[in-house]
This record gives sequence, C-alpha cells and structure tokens, in this order.
Amino acid sequence: MNETDPLSDLPGDLPDDFVWGVATSSYQIEGAVAEDGRSPSIWDTFAHTPGRVDGGHHGDVACDHYHRWPEDIEIMKRLGVTGYRFSVAWPRVVPGGDGPVNPAGLAFYDRLTDALLEAGITPYPTLYHWDLPQALQDRGGWASRDTAEHFAAYAHHVTAALGDRITDWSTLNEPMCSAWIGHIEGRHAPGVSDLAVAVPASYHLLLAHGLGAQAIRAAASDARVGLVNLVNPVEPATDSDADAAAARRMDGHVNRWWLDPVFGRGFPADMVELYGVDLPEKPGDLDAMAAPLDWLGVNFYNPSVVADDPGGPVPFAAQVGTPGSRRTMLDWEIRAQGLEDTLVRVAQDYAPARVLVTENGSAWADVVGPDGRVDDPERVRYLEEHLAACGRAARRGVPLAGYFAWSLMDNFEWAFGYDARFGLVHVDYATQRRTVKASGHRYADLIREHRTHKVA
Ligand code: IFM
Repeated sequence: MNETDPLSDLPGDLPDDFVWGVATSSYQIEGAVAEDGRSPSIWDTFAHTPGRVDGGHHGDVACDHYHRWPEDIEIMKRLGVTGYRFSVAWPRVVPGGDGPVNPAGLAFYDRLTDALLEAGITPYPTLYHWDLPQALQDRGGWASRDTAEHFAAYAHHVTAALGDRITDWSTLNEPMCSAWIGHIEGRHAPGVSDLAVAVPASYHLLLAHGLGAQAIRAAASDARVGLVNLVNPVEPATDSDADAAAARRMDGHVNRWWLDPVFGRGFPADMVELYGVDLPEKPGDLDAMAAPLDWLGVNFYNPSVVADDPGGPVPFAAQVGTPGSRRTMLDWEIRAQGLEDTLVRVAQDYAPARVLVTENGSAWADVVGPDGRVDDPERVRYLEEHLAACGRAARRGVPLAGYFAWSLMDNFEWAFGYDARFGLVHVDYATQRRTVKASGHRYADLIREHRTHKVA
C-alpha cells in the first residue's frame, strides 16, 4: 500500500456497479416502539431490565427514524450513496411472532422502499437484526425449532409485499452474535448464559436462514438472497501450540460454525465435539441451511488475537489483542489488513458468488464543535484504510460488489447504549438534529471520485 495515499489501491479495482452503501438496523434507529401495532421485542425487554445496558439506555426513541425517515433519506441522497441496508422489525410486521400480519407495520417499510427508490438508492433489507418478538421468546425463542419456521413465514410475508421492488434480501444479521453473545455471554438479549441453550439456538438460527431463503424465493422468484455474517480473522498471540489451538477453536466458534453449514459442509466436527451438546438435527435440515447463496455479507470491525484460556468460557480462548495497536473507543483493535485478509479468505475457502462488505466502521465519542461541525479524524482514517483494503481484495480476485459503512448515523449501540457513536452522521439525541460528520463528507467525496473515475 502507498503510505501517503491510502486510497491509491482503490480506483480501478472496484466494479462499475459497485454499491456504495450505508447500514442501520431497526431497533437501533427507529424508536416508536409502541406505535402502529408494534409489539415488544427481546431488546425492549432486555434494555428495560436494570443493569443490562450502559446508562440504562434503551431504544424507545433512538433516532426517531420511524418519523424522520424522509430527512434521513435526504441525507443519504446528499452523501451520494447508492445502497441502503436497513432491517425490518419482525415485531412490527407480525407482532405475535406468528399469526396475522400487521398492515400498518408493513406499510412503514413499503413507504420507505418507495422513497428510497425514488431517491435512486437501492434497498438492501435484512429480515432479522436481533429484535425477536418477545412473544416468541416466551415460547422458547431461538432454542425452539418453531421460531425458525415462524421466521420463514414472516420472511414470506415481507417478500410478498415488497419483492416487486426489492431484489436483494438478507435473512439474518450476524447470527453468531444472536446465539453466542445472547445465549453464552448473556451480554445481549435475551441475556441467557447457557451453552446447552446456545447450541440449539445457533442451529435454529441457521435453519431459519435456510427456510427463510426458500420462503423469499417462493414469494419473489427473482430475489437474490444473502446472509450477513461477522467474520473475524483470528490469530494466536504467540507461537505456542496452545495458542495456535486456541486460535483454531476461536475461528471455529465465530467463523466456521457460521459458514461451513451454509456452504454445504455441515457443522465443523471439532466444534461439535468441543461444545458437547447434541444438535437438534432432522433430515433435510443441512440441505436447507445450504440453500444457494446469491451473495455473502461480511461484517468486519477488528481482528482477534487470542491466547489459550483453559479456565475461561467456550471456546477457551481469551482475546488479548496486539500490544501497542491502535484502538477505537470500544477498545477494538484497528487493522484494515484484517479486512483484506478476511475477504480473500472467504473467497478462497468458500467461493461465494458475490461478496458485500455489509458493515464496517468505528466508534468514537464525537461532539459537535462550536462551529457546528463534527471532526472525526480517526473515523476518516479508519474509513480510508478499510476502503483501500477493499480495493486490494478486489484486485486479488474477490468478487466484491459493495461496501456499506456502519453506520449511516449514530444509534443505539446495544449493551453500550448511545455513547459509542458509529455514525457518519452525528445525532443529537435531545433535539434529534442530524449533522454530517467530516467522515460523512469524506465518504461522499470518495463515492463521487470513484464514480467519476469510472465514467472518465
Ligand atoms: O451496531 C452493531 C450492529 O448492530 C451489528 N454489527 C456490529 C455493529 C457495531 O457493534
């Protein structure tokens, strides 16, 4: 890489129709949690449980996007983005989890879709970004097979309503986090810490992906279906055999468990043995999970550097990081090379037809300056370095079709509440005023430069 111009790798390497996107999710931005028939989700319950979220924050109002979406689309238009990845809130569309559709809930996404298309922005909805209807959690949540079947029915309803205007759908966002952070670590909803629950939950999430893919295609024959996974490059902290084995386990836990079944390899045997929990397997499930993917979404934030941790939780590997490395405000290590390595690795190991970077970004404690501007040089640098990594990956043959910055705007960052700001656009939560940060302006420039370069 040319150190003086981190973007020297970018021009010419990305396809003409490269999608320049931004991403959000329903519970993190919408607010309006009790409007138009929406029912509570597991995140409403979790966030309102004292001690679960920093500062006692919750998503009741969030960015009030449910009411302010026209302004938010205007901002996207000004940035020049060509794709918007958002998620559909299951508790708005099917408040009971299963059963009747709520037309008012679906109508919100119908309006949003039309307005995006009118603005020249392609919608990339995700059908599940962690806001499970509480009614389903009360009946077992992801530990119950029924939840996967209800997800497919819900996916069918949404696709049948919007599939005439939307082509690209993803089933789940980061099922690894739903299963492991929500059911082993207990730091996310539903706040369970039990491997014997987590493993069946992971299985049913992957089944939901497979059944959901079938349902989407049944409702919209030209739909292109993707799955969005967090993929981390994992490396050992030292040369020791113990750390190498720990890195292999961590890679199995966060990456292979979520990719192997989807690409037709079944569950990794080393991890099945490590977990020691029976899978709730039924004939045909593995085929369903391996439904052909039109694209793989890769969310990338940081590399994992791990050491053997025999006394710790599964997978007995502690995150130790690289000494002296740059970190974001959440202490996440910054290493853009990790994105290039990850993209090349998934392309080589799994050969997806297309790859989209569906999330990438960094959290900082941004403030609006006295001149009304938000200067976020660390985020600008992070963005530039990671886009350069995309350029290099494309040059190495990765079929990279797009990049979605996480996030369009500051939002509810789950257990960290509102203080960790990931947006290209600053949100003042007291007034709901939006201010495009320096990184947002930089992204707009890069989009313009790339598109001009392609036209020239
Ligand atoms: O905010 C989250 C998002 O919901 C899922 N991927 C990671 C982001 C940053 O933590």
